[in-house]
Amino acid sequence: MKSKKANQHDTTKPLSENVHLLRWVNKMAALCNPDRIHWVDGSRAEYDRLCDELVDSGTFIRLNQKKWPGCFLARSDSSDVARVEDRTFICSHSKEAAGSTNNWVNPFDMKKKLRGLFHGSMRGRTMYVLPFSMGPLDSPMSQIGVQLTDSPYVVVSMRIMARIGRKVFKQIDASKKRVVPCLHSVGMPLAKGAQDVSWPCNKEKYIAHFPETREIWSYGSGYGGNALLGKKCFALRIASAMARDEGWMAEHMLILGVENPEGEKTYVAAAFPSACGKTNFAMLIPPKHFSEQGWKVWTVGDDIAWIKPGDDGQLYAINPEAGFFGVAPGTGNKTNPNAMAALSRNSIFTNVALTPDGGVWWEGMTDEPPASAIDWQGNLWTPELAKEKGIKAAHPNSRFTTPAAQCPTIDPDWEKPEGVPISAIIFGGRRATTMPLVYQSFNWSTGVYIGATLGSEMTAAAAGTVGKVRRDPMAMLPFCGYNMGDYFRHWISMQRTLSQTPRIFHVNWFRKDAEGNFLWPGFQENMRILLWIIQRACGRALGKETPIGWVPRYEDIDWTGLDFPKEKFDELQRFDRELWRKEILDHENLFLDLHSHLPKELIYERELLICRM
Ligand code: OXD
Ligand code: MN
Repeated sequence: MKSKKANQHDTTKPLSENVHLLRWVNKMAALCNPDRIHWVDGSRAEYDRLCDELVDSGTFIRLNQKKWPGCFLARSDSSDVARVEDRTFICSHSKEAAGSTNNWVNPFDMKKKLRGLFHGSMRGRTMYVLPFSMGPLDSPMSQIGVQLTDSPYVVVSMRIMARIGRKVFKQIDASKKRVVPCLHSVGMPLAKGAQDVSWPCNKEKYIAHFPETREIWSYGSGYGGNALLGKKCFALRIASAMARDEGWMAEHMLILGVENPEGEKTYVAAAFPSACGKTNFAMLIPPKHFSEQGWKVWTVGDDIAWIKPGDDGQLYAINPEAGFFGVAPGTGNKTNPNAMAALSRNSIFTNVALTPDGGVWWEGMTDEPPASAIDWQGNLWTPELAKEKGIKAAHPNSRFTTPAAQCPTIDPDWEKPEGVPISAIIFGGRRATTMPLVYQSFNWSTGVYIGATLGSEMTAAAAGTVGKVRRDPMAMLPFCGYNMGDYFRHWISMQRTLSQTPRIFHVNWFRKDAEGNFLWPGFQENMRILLWIIQRACGRALGKETPIGWVPRYEDIDWTGLDFPKEKFDELQRFDRELWRKEILDHENLFLDLHSHLPKELIYERELLICRM
């Protein structure tokens, strides 16, 4: 009988003939000194082999395959659980080009530092040459990267999150598309004969971006956005700089389509800071009354949108990713049955709890917790312990990595090379006070002002103080690869290239009453607000003018099937002049930080807002 290994192609043999790529791989191998080089072909067989190896090395636990087919659990080191914004750098030639919202080190010094760290960093390990396309391979909007990494966990995760392997090498060889080189090491060389740990990483971390030369160097972390370099590093930080230069937009936005009973689809893109429910919103199931009428919501993407003007003067968007890297806690059959169906197979879970039957669990997955579990750190967990000591079974930033194609509501057009037309843009944050449930900007530049001043209470997706309101312009604060003021200018100028401008809205699902209870049920019920948005964008719904923008009247929302009294709606929409004064003063703080690059339009918008107040 042939062994699995015998079927394997010689993985050390280069799969590309591109001389620039070969030269770079050799140069980086000489620097990092791996024991071997593996050219990633992207096949299912290779994926299975790597997963087997990850099980053997203790990084993966194979879940009960009857209940969770094709699924694995990984537990990270407890120090490597989230993006590290304070260790994330934009290394443009001038500090001014990176702007005050980014950490900056000049590229020369950063490269020198990194060369030192990467020197011998892959000793005892394999260096994988992982080619990936962000966006469908046949899309003119797609971009190509090659990640060199010493983490097989990254390779298998990237196979879910992007299009990888031979077909990408073929494009590199055949086309003139520029390739973004991405170097990644967990920063833990293995001495000869030494026992590896299940989650190698390094206390010292650098997530460094070089927007001018379009390069990424990431050192020390194996987790999420720090390590899956196609996602935040490429598709947002580097891509935002490419987009500015080339007249398109790389945004931290979900994309969804609303289909009406007549079968017409209207697409919206929505920006929310990390862990504010983008995945749930992207996979919304309309309440019964709407489904029965024939309304449907289709998912195109849950995290990132690349948006470009089409020849017809409308904006078109693609989802550059191929998978979902979703926050697990809070995801359950009640909150997001589509995500639950998607993640039920072929998924990699990181830092969730393991149940005695070989399955996974996290807070919010079911109402009833399991009687016991092994928590994300490998310790016994019980509901009693949770009550007594407040110990979570799953880390608040634990994740599922799942193929997007498995989502029951994935839009039939989600991989359309030219993208889907965008009729509305929604900004949203997590705000206990001040922000109404929904309002619409008066025009594009007021909309840009609303996005630019977006605020949200911090979550566990990044290291920091959970709960504090921070300004997160367009939900891009941690992801903009250049000066935020120039980014606003780019937003303003995009409108000039359009003959059909999307309408801009702001939503807040998280407003609370004086007792601290959420005023809005959220989830499915967000459909009611989404419908008003869609209809406004198509010029089919009424609204009322207020100092901050257009708002729906109670009677403009379809309340069928939900007992939601007018007084409660009025409370949700209430404009509190005192709180808005504070809000606008806080906008001033952001503008002071950005003053040297702030477009005049935003300063005037602020003045106009003050006048309207
Ligand atoms: C994410 C994030 O992982 O925004 O999507 O942190
Ligand atoms: Mn995100």
